[in-house]
Amino acid sequence: MKPKLLDLFAGAGGAGKGYMDAGFDVTGIDIEPQPDYPGTFIQSDAIAYLAAHGHEYDAIHASPPCQASCTLTKGTNQGKEYLNLIPATRALLDISGKPYVIENVQGSDLRRDLTLCGEMFGLGVIRHRYFELGGWAAIPTPHKPHRGRVAGWRHGEWFDGPYFAVYGEGGGKGTVAQWQGAMDMHWTSNRKSIAESIPRAYTRFIGGQLMALLETQRELAESAA
Ligand SMILES: C[S@@+](CC[C@H](N)C(=O)[O-])C[C@H]1O[C@@H](n2cnc3c(N)ncnc32)[C@H](O)[C@@H]1O
Repeated sequence: MKPKLLDLFAGAGGAGKGYMDAGFDVTGIDIEPQPDYPGTFIQSDAIAYLAAHGHEYDAIHASPPCQASCTLTKGTNQGKEYLNLIPATRALLDISGKPYVIENVQGSDLRRDLTLCGEMFGLGVIRHRYFELGGWAAIPTPHKPHRGRVAGWRHGEWFDGPYFAVYGEGGGKGTVAQWQGAMDMHWTSNRKSIAESIPRAYTRFIGGQLMALLETQRELAESAA
């Protein structure tokens, strides 16, 4: 039987799909309906679900929304209050005793145990993301120099480059098909979902190491029994 992974704040499943690639049986939780989610999906508040069901899973991933800290929206957030869901999520994850991963963006108060970038996986996005790991550690992979610039208009000038800016509108940001290709995310054509997600390659990398750890723990438990 496959180990069970809980994917909190699941969106359309960028993170979830990578854990599926790594061999997990994945259940995604989101407060909004997610018709394109590639695994089992339950619509619920993530914090409430984690408190009630976290113990049923072998490992847990959480991608709390980034509006409280996101550098891309900070300038437009003035006057709006966004809840920072990271502290409550982290506290419940610690109580669960399960190995966990929390993903967020620059400006959040997360520990950066792991930093991943699209270029490490040959993707058409740069998309630096930071991961705090609880109850386990992963071997990092070195950052690779970027091959060029992000394509798009800046100050009235067009810049060519091997990467797309997968967020926002206008400025030569790319078509949905280009975003799907750049992110390797072909199971949804929802532009907002693609913009909010992390590439599956990131969690395939993390999930591979998490799977190896769980298998070692299972073998040790079996040999001790
Ligand atoms: C950054 S997106 C997640 C992207 C996802 N990890 C991926 O890779 O595709 C954050 C998600 O959190 C969801 N969300 C916000 N507040 C929530 C809550 N209290 N409980 C569950 N989901 C929530 C949003 O609907 C959104 O889909």
